[in-house]
Amino acid sequence: LARKYAKLHLGPERYEIITMENSFHGRTLATLTATAQEKFHKGFEPLVPGFRYCPFNDLEAVARAIGPRTCAVMVEPIQGEGGVNVPSEDYLRGLRELCDEKGVLLIYDEVQTGMGRTGRLFAYEHYGAPPDIMTLAKALGGGIPIGAMVTTDKVAQGFSAGDHASTFGGNPLAARAACTVFDVLLGEGVLENCQRMGEYLMEGLEVLKDKYPSVVDVRGKGLLVGMELRGRAKEVALSCLKRGVLINNIGDRVLRFAPPLIVGKGEIDRLCEVLEEVLSQNKG
Ligand SMILES: Cc1ncc(COP(=O)(O)O)c(C=O)c1O
Repeated sequence: LARKYAKLHLGPERYEIITMENSFHGRTLATLTATAQEKFHKGFEPLVPGFRYCPFNDLEAVARAIGPRTCAVMVEPIQGEGGVNVPSEDYLRGLRELCDEKGVLLIYDEVQTGMGRTGRLFAYEHYGAPPDIMTLAKALGGGIPIGAMVTTDKVAQGFSAGDHASTFGGNPLAARAACTVFDVLLGEGVLENCQRMGEYLMEGLEVLKDKYPSVVDVRGKGLLVGMELRGRAKEVALSCLKRGVLINNIGDRVLRFAPPLIVGKGEIDRLCEVLEEVLSQNKG
Protein backbone atom coordinates (compact mmCIF):
# COMPACT_ATOMS: atom_id res chain seq x y z
CA LEU A 1 0.00 0.00 0.00
CA ALA A 2 2.82 2.41 0.90
CA ARG A 3 4.39 1.89 -2.51
CA LYS A 4 1.11 2.23 -4.37
CA TYR A 5 0.22 5.35 -2.43
CA ALA A 6 3.66 6.80 -3.05
CA LYS A 7 3.49 6.09 -6.80
CA LEU A 8 0.18 7.95 -6.97
CA HIS A 9 0.84 10.84 -4.63
CA LEU A 10 4.56 11.28 -4.09
CA GLY A 11 6.13 10.44 -7.44
CA PRO A 12 7.16 7.45 -9.58
CA GLU A 13 10.59 6.90 -7.99
CA ARG A 14 9.42 6.56 -4.40
CA TYR A 15 9.59 2.87 -3.54
CA GLU A 16 12.22 2.43 -0.85
CA ILE A 17 11.14 1.29 2.62
CA ILE A 18 13.37 1.77 5.65
CA THR A 19 13.17 -0.87 8.38
CA MET A 20 15.19 -1.45 11.54
CA GLU A 21 17.98 -3.84 12.45
CA ASN A 22 16.81 -6.76 14.61
CA SER A 23 13.25 -6.28 13.41
CA PHE A 24 10.88 -9.08 12.55
CA HIS A 25 8.07 -8.56 10.08
CA GLY A 26 7.15 -12.05 8.84
CA ARG A 27 8.04 -14.79 6.43
CA THR A 28 6.67 -13.86 3.02
CA LEU A 29 9.38 -12.78 0.60
CA ALA A 30 8.61 -9.08 1.13
CA THR A 31 8.24 -9.28 4.89
CA LEU A 32 11.35 -11.39 5.38
CA THR A 33 13.23 -8.85 3.30
CA ALA A 34 11.82 -6.14 5.57
CA THR A 35 13.08 -8.20 8.51
CA ALA A 36 16.60 -6.86 9.01
CA GLN A 37 18.13 -10.07 10.36
CA GLU A 38 20.36 -12.05 8.05
CA LYS A 39 19.41 -15.44 9.46
CA PHE A 40 15.88 -15.02 8.06
CA HIS A 41 17.20 -14.13 4.59
CA LYS A 42 19.38 -17.18 4.11
CA GLY A 43 18.31 -19.33 1.18
CA PHE A 44 15.60 -16.95 -0.04
CA GLU A 45 17.87 -14.70 -2.11
CA PRO A 46 17.41 -12.76 -4.32
CA LEU A 47 15.39 -10.70 -1.90
CA VAL A 48 12.84 -8.03 -2.80
CA PRO A 49 14.58 -4.82 -3.91
CA GLY A 50 13.97 -1.49 -2.24
CA PHE A 51 14.56 -2.12 1.47
CA ARG A 52 17.12 -0.29 3.57
CA TYR A 53 18.05 -0.94 7.19
CA CYS A 54 18.82 1.37 10.09
CA PRO A 55 19.72 0.67 13.73
CA PHE A 56 16.66 0.58 16.01
CA ASN A 57 16.12 3.56 18.30
CA ASP A 58 18.43 5.80 16.29
CA LEU A 59 16.59 8.80 14.86
CA GLU A 60 19.66 10.32 13.26
CA ALA A 61 20.32 7.15 11.28
CA VAL A 62 16.78 7.29 9.87
CA ALA A 63 17.15 11.00 9.09
CA ARG A 64 20.33 10.20 7.13
CA ALA A 65 18.77 7.19 5.37
CA ILE A 66 15.65 8.97 4.08
CA GLY A 67 16.35 9.98 0.50
CA PRO A 68 14.54 10.90 -2.72
CA ARG A 69 13.45 7.26 -3.21
CA THR A 70 12.07 6.67 0.28
CA CYS A 71 8.33 6.08 0.51
CA ALA A 72 8.00 4.72 4.04
CA VAL A 73 9.62 3.94 7.36
CA MET A 74 8.45 0.75 9.05
CA VAL A 75 9.04 -0.14 12.68
CA GLU A 76 7.74 -2.29 15.53
CA PRO A 77 6.89 0.11 18.40
CA ILE A 78 8.64 -2.41 20.67
CA GLN A 79 10.78 -5.04 18.96
CA GLY A 80 9.48 -8.48 19.90
CA GLU A 81 11.54 -11.16 18.15
CA GLY A 82 14.57 -8.87 18.28
CA GLY A 83 14.73 -9.22 22.08
CA VAL A 84 11.91 -7.11 23.59
CA ASN A 85 13.68 -3.86 22.76
CA VAL A 86 11.82 -0.85 24.15
CA PRO A 87 12.78 2.41 22.42
CA SER A 88 13.38 5.68 24.21
CA GLU A 89 10.21 7.66 25.02
CA ASP A 90 10.65 10.13 22.17
CA TYR A 91 11.65 7.68 19.42
CA LEU A 92 8.26 7.16 17.77
CA ARG A 93 7.37 10.84 18.09
CA GLY A 94 10.71 11.64 16.48
CA LEU A 95 10.00 9.22 13.63
CA ARG A 96 6.54 10.75 13.21
CA GLU A 97 8.01 14.25 12.95
CA LEU A 98 10.73 13.07 10.58
CA CYS A 99 8.26 11.31 8.31
CA ASP A 100 5.94 14.35 8.24
CA GLU A 101 8.83 16.65 7.49
CA LYS A 102 10.16 14.46 4.65
CA GLY A 103 6.72 13.49 3.31
CA VAL A 104 7.08 9.74 3.81
CA LEU A 105 4.66 7.29 5.41
CA LEU A 106 5.13 5.83 8.88
CA ILE A 107 4.18 2.16 9.22
CA TYR A 108 3.88 0.33 12.54
CA ASP A 109 3.99 -3.42 12.70
CA GLU A 110 1.78 -4.07 15.72
CA VAL A 111 1.37 -7.77 14.98
CA GLN A 112 3.03 -8.65 18.27
CA THR A 113 2.56 -5.48 20.32
CA GLY A 114 -1.03 -4.70 19.32
CA MET A 115 -4.36 -5.91 20.72
CA GLY A 116 -3.64 -5.12 24.33
CA ARG A 117 -0.30 -6.89 24.74
CA THR A 118 1.45 -3.82 26.16
CA GLY A 119 -1.48 -2.64 28.29
CA ARG A 120 -2.92 -0.25 25.69
CA LEU A 121 -4.93 -1.40 22.71
CA PHE A 122 -1.99 -0.50 20.45
CA ALA A 123 1.56 0.00 21.70
CA TYR A 124 1.98 3.33 19.88
CA GLU A 125 -0.61 4.84 22.25
CA HIS A 126 2.09 4.88 24.95
CA TYR A 127 4.10 7.26 22.82
CA GLY A 128 1.45 9.57 21.33
CA ALA A 129 2.63 9.13 17.74
CA PRO A 130 0.03 7.56 15.44
CA PRO A 131 1.06 5.79 12.22
CA ASP A 132 -0.18 6.14 8.65
CA ILE A 133 -0.41 2.37 8.25
CA MET A 134 -0.50 -0.34 10.90
CA THR A 135 -0.44 -4.12 10.62
CA LEU A 136 -2.23 -6.42 13.05
CA ALA A 137 -2.57 -10.20 13.36
CA LYS A 138 -1.89 -12.82 16.07
CA ALA A 139 -4.19 -11.82 18.96
CA LEU A 140 -6.56 -10.04 16.59
CA GLY A 141 -8.49 -13.25 16.00
CA GLY A 142 -8.14 -14.75 19.48
CA GLY A 143 -6.86 -17.97 17.91
CA ILE A 144 -8.68 -17.73 14.57
CA PRO A 145 -6.18 -16.86 11.80
CA ILE A 146 -6.59 -13.27 10.63
CA GLY A 147 -4.32 -10.40 9.66
CA ALA A 148 -5.25 -6.80 8.99
CA MET A 149 -3.72 -3.69 7.54
CA VAL A 150 -5.23 -0.54 8.99
CA THR A 151 -4.73 2.89 7.49
CA THR A 152 -6.00 6.45 7.33
CA ASP A 153 -8.65 7.51 4.81
CA LYS A 154 -6.00 9.51 2.99
CA VAL A 155 -3.52 6.66 2.54
CA ALA A 156 -6.32 4.23 1.72
CA GLN A 157 -6.62 6.13 -1.57
CA GLY A 158 -3.57 4.16 -2.64
CA PHE A 159 -5.85 1.18 -3.18
CA SER A 160 -9.05 1.09 -5.16
CA ALA A 161 -11.54 -1.75 -5.01
CA GLY A 162 -10.15 -4.92 -6.57
CA ASP A 163 -6.53 -3.69 -6.57
CA HIS A 164 -5.28 -6.21 -4.08
CA ALA A 165 -6.87 -9.13 -2.28
CA SER A 166 -6.41 -12.59 -0.80
CA THR A 167 -8.60 -15.68 -0.98
CA PHE A 168 -9.68 -15.65 2.65
CA GLY A 169 -9.39 -11.88 3.15
CA GLY A 170 -12.40 -10.45 4.97
CA ASN A 171 -14.00 -13.85 5.55
CA PRO A 172 -17.00 -13.56 7.88
CA LEU A 173 -15.85 -16.13 10.46
CA ALA A 174 -12.44 -14.52 11.09
CA ALA A 175 -13.91 -11.01 10.96
CA ARG A 176 -16.59 -11.95 13.52
CA ALA A 177 -13.92 -13.48 15.77
CA ALA A 178 -11.90 -10.25 15.59
CA CYS A 179 -14.97 -8.14 16.45
CA THR A 180 -15.54 -10.34 19.51
CA VAL A 181 -11.88 -9.96 20.53
CA PHE A 182 -12.33 -6.16 20.47
CA ASP A 183 -15.50 -6.43 22.58
CA VAL A 184 -13.79 -8.59 25.19
CA LEU A 185 -10.56 -6.56 25.28
CA LEU A 186 -12.33 -3.24 25.64
CA GLY A 187 -15.38 -4.30 27.63
CA GLU A 188 -14.14 -6.79 30.19
CA GLY A 189 -11.21 -5.08 31.88
CA VAL A 190 -8.55 -7.04 29.99
CA LEU A 191 -6.37 -4.00 29.28
CA GLU A 192 -6.46 -2.99 32.94
CA ASN A 193 -5.48 -6.52 33.97
CA CYS A 194 -2.66 -6.43 31.47
CA GLN A 195 -1.32 -3.17 32.92
CA ARG A 196 -1.58 -4.37 36.53
CA MET A 197 -0.18 -7.82 35.89
CA GLY A 198 2.55 -6.39 33.67
CA GLU A 199 3.74 -4.20 36.56
CA TYR A 200 3.48 -7.14 38.95
CA LEU A 201 5.52 -9.35 36.64
CA MET A 202 8.20 -6.68 36.18
CA GLU A 203 8.41 -6.22 39.95
CA GLY A 204 8.86 -9.97 40.43
CA LEU A 205 11.56 -10.13 37.78
CA GLU A 206 13.33 -7.06 39.18
CA VAL A 207 13.61 -8.86 42.52
CA LEU A 208 15.34 -11.73 40.71
CA LYS A 209 17.59 -9.28 38.91
CA ASP A 210 18.72 -7.77 42.21
CA LYS A 211 19.44 -11.23 43.56
CA TYR A 212 21.14 -13.00 40.66
CA PRO A 213 24.10 -11.46 38.82
CA SER A 214 23.29 -13.63 35.78
CA VAL A 215 20.32 -11.28 35.16
CA VAL A 216 21.44 -8.16 33.31
CA ASP A 217 18.21 -6.35 32.49
CA VAL A 218 14.43 -6.50 32.82
CA ARG A 219 12.42 -4.48 30.30
CA GLY A 220 9.07 -4.32 28.58
CA LYS A 221 5.60 -2.84 28.66
CA GLY A 222 2.41 -4.45 29.89
CA LEU A 223 2.64 -8.18 29.36
CA LEU A 224 5.44 -8.10 26.82
CA VAL A 225 8.48 -8.42 29.02
CA GLY A 226 12.06 -9.43 28.44
CA MET A 227 14.73 -10.55 30.87
CA GLU A 228 18.27 -10.32 29.58
CA LEU A 229 20.77 -12.81 30.96
CA ARG A 230 24.52 -13.02 30.59
CA GLY A 231 23.90 -16.18 28.54
CA ARG A 232 22.32 -19.62 28.73
CA ALA A 233 18.81 -18.32 28.07
CA LYS A 234 17.90 -21.49 26.20
CA GLU A 235 19.09 -23.65 29.07
CA VAL A 236 17.04 -21.60 31.52
CA ALA A 237 13.93 -21.78 29.30
CA LEU A 238 14.30 -25.57 28.99
CA SER A 239 14.72 -26.01 32.73
CA CYS A 240 11.57 -23.93 33.31
CA LEU A 241 9.71 -26.02 30.74
CA LYS A 242 10.64 -29.18 32.64
CA ARG A 243 8.99 -27.59 35.68
CA GLY A 244 5.83 -26.78 33.71
CA VAL A 245 6.49 -23.13 32.84
CA LEU A 246 6.68 -22.19 29.18
CA ILE A 247 9.02 -19.26 28.42
CA ASN A 248 10.42 -18.31 25.05
CA ASN A 249 14.12 -17.62 24.68
CA ILE A 250 15.34 -15.23 22.02
CA GLY A 251 18.87 -16.21 21.17
CA ASP A 252 21.04 -17.03 24.14
CA ARG A 253 20.56 -13.85 26.14
CA VAL A 254 16.88 -12.95 26.33
CA LEU A 255 13.87 -14.62 27.92
CA ARG A 256 10.61 -13.29 26.54
CA PHE A 257 7.48 -13.40 28.66
CA ALA A 258 4.18 -12.99 26.84
CA PRO A 259 1.59 -14.62 29.10
CA PRO A 260 -2.15 -14.60 28.37
CA LEU A 261 -3.65 -11.15 28.97
CA ILE A 262 -5.93 -12.67 31.62
CA VAL A 263 -3.03 -14.00 33.69
CA GLY A 264 -3.41 -13.64 37.47
CA LYS A 265 -1.07 -12.99 40.40
CA GLY A 266 -0.95 -16.65 41.41
CA GLU A 267 0.41 -17.68 38.01
CA ILE A 268 3.00 -14.90 38.01
CA ASP A 269 4.10 -15.91 41.53
CA ARG A 270 4.51 -19.49 40.29
CA LEU A 271 6.54 -18.30 37.29
CA CYS A 272 8.86 -16.27 39.53
CA GLU A 273 9.27 -19.20 41.94
CA VAL A 274 10.22 -21.59 39.14
CA LEU A 275 12.52 -19.04 37.53
CA GLU A 276 14.22 -18.41 40.85
CA GLU A 277 14.75 -22.13 41.36
CA VAL A 278 16.35 -22.39 37.92
CA LEU A 279 18.44 -19.21 38.21
CA SER A 280 19.76 -20.25 41.61
CA GLN A 281 21.04 -23.51 40.08
CA ASN A 282 22.26 -21.96 36.85
CA LYS A 283 25.35 -20.09 37.90
CA GLY A 284 27.01 -18.35 35.04
C1 LIG B 1 6.28 -8.06 14.70
C2 LIG B 1 5.79 -9.22 13.87
N1 LIG B 1 5.33 -8.98 12.64
C3 LIG B 1 4.86 -9.97 11.87
C4 LIG B 1 4.82 -11.28 12.32
C5 LIG B 1 4.21 -12.30 11.43
O1 LIG B 1 5.03 -13.28 11.05
P1 LIG B 1 4.56 -14.50 10.12
O2 LIG B 1 4.62 -14.03 8.73
O3 LIG B 1 5.56 -15.54 10.46
O4 LIG B 1 3.19 -14.87 10.56
C6 LIG B 1 5.33 -11.58 13.59
C7 LIG B 1 5.36 -12.95 14.11
O5 LIG B 1 5.97 -13.28 15.10
C8 LIG B 1 5.80 -10.52 14.39
O6 LIG B 1 6.29 -10.73 15.63
